[in-house]
Amino acid sequence: MFKNHLTIFLIAITSVMIYSCDIKKAGTQNENTDEQVVNVYTHRHYEVDKQLFADFTTETGIKVNVVNASADELIQKMEMEGEKSPADVLITVDAGRLHRAKEKGLIKSIKSGLLENNIPGKFRDPEGYWFGLTYRARVIVYAPDRVDPTALTTYESLADEKWNGKLLIRSSGNIYNQSLLASLIAANGRDEAKKWAEAVVNNLAREPKGSDRDQVKAIASGIGDVAVVNSYYIGKLLDSKVEEEVNAGEAVQVFFPNQEGRGTHINVSGAAVANHAPNEANAIKFIEYLSDEKAQSVFAGANFEYPVKPGIKFASLLDAWGTFKSDSVNLSVLGENNRDAVMIFDEVGWK
Ligand SMILES: [Fe+2]
Repeated sequence: MFKNHLTIFLIAITSVMIYSCDIKKAGTQNENTDEQVVNVYTHRHYEVDKQLFADFTTETGIKVNVVNASADELIQKMEMEGEKSPADVLITVDAGRLHRAKEKGLIKSIKSGLLENNIPGKFRDPEGYWFGLTYRARVIVYAPDRVDPTALTTYESLADEKWNGKLLIRSSGNIYNQSLLASLIAANGRDEAKKWAEAVVNNLAREPKGSDRDQVKAIASGIGDVAVVNSYYIGKLLDSKVEEEVNAGEAVQVFFPNQEGRGTHINVSGAAVANHAPNEANAIKFIEYLSDEKAQSVFAGANFEYPVKPGIKFASLLDAWGTFKSDSVNLSVLGENNRDAVMIFDEVGWK
């Protein structure tokens, strides 16, 4: 087991090192030829991104060098590289993580009228450190043959005894749950949030394990009746080439909680300019490009996420779910409450 992890770790480190070499080379070339570049550290690995980056190069003449790794690996890499980091832009998921990068001094505040215009205030850091590009809702999904949707109301109501042995949700180590609990702390205070987490643990159909997709599959196989998952996973399951996944997606319905109150908890995938960005002006241009009409439409079609720029058409599946009210708390608060959320999970024994 340990050996396997070590192997994966070594492969990850090696590939990151190979990528860094590429970037260093590109940087040197840059000095000699005046070639304009932007070095992008991103967790995203979608075909559409490649297309978007190529379009950006065509439009601006700025070459995009990409380093792909998981969000936590990229943050670690930037920490290790320090002032010498070639990173210009960090693209990662979850405001909690973006906040972590901010706290560690890895990203810098920028001012851009275009970004402020394109991205509504709640989707970006109030001090200009990071900017949301797409958002997702953390929804409740349920088995329509076993759950009457009128029984569903709020995240808070998942603490109710009626869900005893029926609730599915992944482990607390995951940032999605940390940000959800952070939003409950913001709405109801620490004590209430802790009581909620405790009750949720008591209601679980099984010990937390697996991904969001696995919770949906567990509903499909009758292990539980309701689950909390990110909205785009339902789209991904329905769109999958694997029959079991399509079946799982079809076995559930989506419910947007807290519509009568503060709204459904949402989070972003976002971008930031690296604190030591060697090509800062290009970095800002790049993020501006991703926030504009064309890129936002591409994002909307690609990953079953919602584009942050108002007025962009959603993917048809999202349209079918209808509009919903989203929690208006500034997402930077989720980052601020992250430490408390992690502590509460620990205190209540949410694995
Ligand atoms: Fe995800």
